[in-house]
Amino acid sequence: MNRIENILSDDSYKSYISDIENKEKNRKFCCHGLEHCLDVARIAYIISLEEKTGIDKELIYAAALLHDIGRAAEYRDGSPHHETGAEIASEILSHTDFNQDEIKTICHAITCHKSESDGDGLSSLLYRADKLSRCCFRCEAYDECYWDEGMKNKTILY
Ligand SMILES: [Fe+2]
Ligand SMILES: [Fe+2]
Repeated sequence: MNRIENILSDDSYKSYISDIENKEKNRKFCCHGLEHCLDVARIAYIISLEEKTGIDKELIYAAALLHDIGRAAEYRDGSPHHETGAEIASEILSHTDFNQDEIKTICHAITCHKSESDGDGLSSLLYRADKLSRCCFRCEAYDECYWDEGMKNKTILY
């Protein structure tokens, strides 16, 4: 997973993740730090194996590790994190060994991750894993959460 190591050791990636984690220290709703990103990566990869999508493992992990990277900017100025995130991700990925087509695919998935995707396989994996990663069944903010009742996870699927 050399190209994932490229992301994890990137100074701006580390700084964005720390910024998000600091801003969410007292947040009672779902958080978006490294732990969440890794949950999403692993769930997306499990689904990919189950469904035999054949999507490159590093593409899945890169999309998941970067999908919420725009959160700190959203807290700061209200800009939509899926759009800002795709721009930040593109910049970070340009310092890695992913090629231009792969970077486009990853950034497209990040742009689409907030709503049910009509996009490609990676977008769909990211969207579903993001939702499935949340432990709604033990959340203290369950009643205040904006998710529709039907979306809330009542048990563990992955
Ligand atoms: Fe998100
Ligand atoms: Fe997320």
